[in-house]
Amino acid sequence: AAVVEHTFIVSQMMLNHLCNNTPVIVVNGQLPGPAIEASEGDSIVVHVINKSPHGVSIHWHGVKQQLNCWADGADMITQCPIQPNKNFTYRFNVIGQEGTLWWHAHVACLRATIHGALIIRPRLGSSSYPFHKPDKEIPIVIGEWWGTDLVRLDKRFNNSNFAYVPGSSTINGKLGDLNNCFGFIEENYILNVEHGKTYLLRIVNAALHPQYYYKIAGHMFTVVAADANYVKPYMTDTIAIAPGETVDVLVVANAPPGMYYMVALGIMSLGPITETPAFISRGIVSYNNQANATSDGTPIMVPEMPDQREETLAFYFHDNLTSLVHHRVPADVDERLFITVDTGNMCRKGSVPACGLVSRMNNISFQPPANGSLLHAHYSNNMINNVISTLQDFPSRPPPRMVFNRGHTSKATSLRRVRYNTTMEIVLQGPPIWPSYPNPMHLHGHDFFILAQGHGRYNAEKDVQAYNLLDPPVRNTALVPVLGWMVIRFVTRNPGVWLLHCHIQQHVSTGMAVAFVVENGPTMDTTLPPPPADYPSCDNQN
Ligand code: C2O
Repeated sequence: AAVVEHTFIVSQMMLNHLCNNTPVIVVNGQLPGPAIEASEGDSIVVHVINKSPHGVSIHWHGVKQQLNCWADGADMITQCPIQPNKNFTYRFNVIGQEGTLWWHAHVACLRATIHGALIIRPRLGSSSYPFHKPDKEIPIVIGEWWGTDLVRLDKRFNNSNFAYVPGSSTINGKLGDLNNCFGFIEENYILNVEHGKTYLLRIVNAALHPQYYYKIAGHMFTVVAADANYVKPYMTDTIAIAPGETVDVLVVANAPPGMYYMVALGIMSLGPITETPAFISRGIVSYNNQANATSDGTPIMVPEMPDQREETLAFYFHDNLTSLVHHRVPADVDERLFITVDTGNMCRKGSVPACGLVSRMNNISFQPPANGSLLHAHYSNNMINNVISTLQDFPSRPPPRMVFNRGHTSKATSLRRVRYNTTMEIVLQGPPIWPSYPNPMHLHGHDFFILAQGHGRYNAEKDVQAYNLLDPPVRNTALVPVLGWMVIRFVTRNPGVWLLHCHIQQHVSTGMAVAFVVENGPTMDTTLPPPPADYPSCDNQN
């Protein structure tokens, strides 16, 4: 195993899109940021040098961080942000994981411009891909261009009910032939292919908000992995990918040579904003460098996209994924948690009464601590001091009491303490009636089995029968379907403080999160070691 070392210089620069210069904070002057490429078992070392005017932390989304919670990068959960002109080195390894993960800032909305792919190939010399070896591998990072101050955007999320929309969706940072001012056309992302060759597309949804349908005109995909876990090869012409998720697909360049659009189209089940160009980006698959040659008016084939309000296709896309490897699913559940996830409206009294969106899990809206990280407080046994004044034990709500009660939202730093080696089953229930929204729930530090999903209200007697205990997909993000529920199961063998939260930024910014505190196990090698020497200080947090 090797050591893969990177230096991430975080700085602010101006980018011009849609005829406006906007200051954005990026890594190494790139958007998306650099892809980290490693092999299974490697150690990864990333020196983060913060030259930007804002505090940042970087989360390695999907990396298990076994006995290494200090490197998880969740702001105010596992660390305080790295302040301007300060450095921090993240050290972690990628053992027992293969496929595509990604990294992103975990502070406010900054991940919209601070993100990149994390690619883990099979260990050299030992195994190789459990599928046809691709001729080439390409990261496809779906994102958004906001064209606005992302720190301010986060504050606005808390102070209104407005559904904010970006200027455009992006593919690998390109907006894609959007009509623009003064006849200026935004660039397309161009993927040059050779006829007959096989490409492995490593698709990441790094967007703050929508799920996407992703399609290439005239081509089929074979899905081979999701969230860095292999799945049984699954053929489809349409990928559905929620924020936080990754999907690896093989595509064979076997169409008549020409040019083909690849389209990322945001799924928007709610509301009239579907008509905006904000949720679409087009790239081009070009045979024999055609798109690079002088444009000769060759027509570009357009894929037929699903309706933007269509959620069923996304539901079945997720339903059709099964694990390639048959893991042994732990049968005896030690602790079963029922969690409602929803959003509502909360009004503040006072001299200027204001109403804003509030997001909740079991009616508690998560408030991160203000002055220090939960992990550090837990590690030094001072959870209950003035660092965290609003701790609240997170309750379970058995199914009959899974009410969506708009009247009883509390704001707290909600924690669920769990013993080491506990088999947890979590039923995540979204509102079974409108307004409802699909919520991609991401768990830090663990992969989990997805046992079942369904529409309506979870029914303990009936729905247990439908659990897939044979080959359930293993993931780090669970897309709770619109008007429905999802069941996940995992074992807590990684001491630390781990966030479970919705990967829709407006939802997590307004409280759709809970922190799991996994206690140390009985031995040294089940005990979290002390923090690294350069662990960011929590002085001057605001
Ligand atoms: Cu990818 Cu806590 O997030």
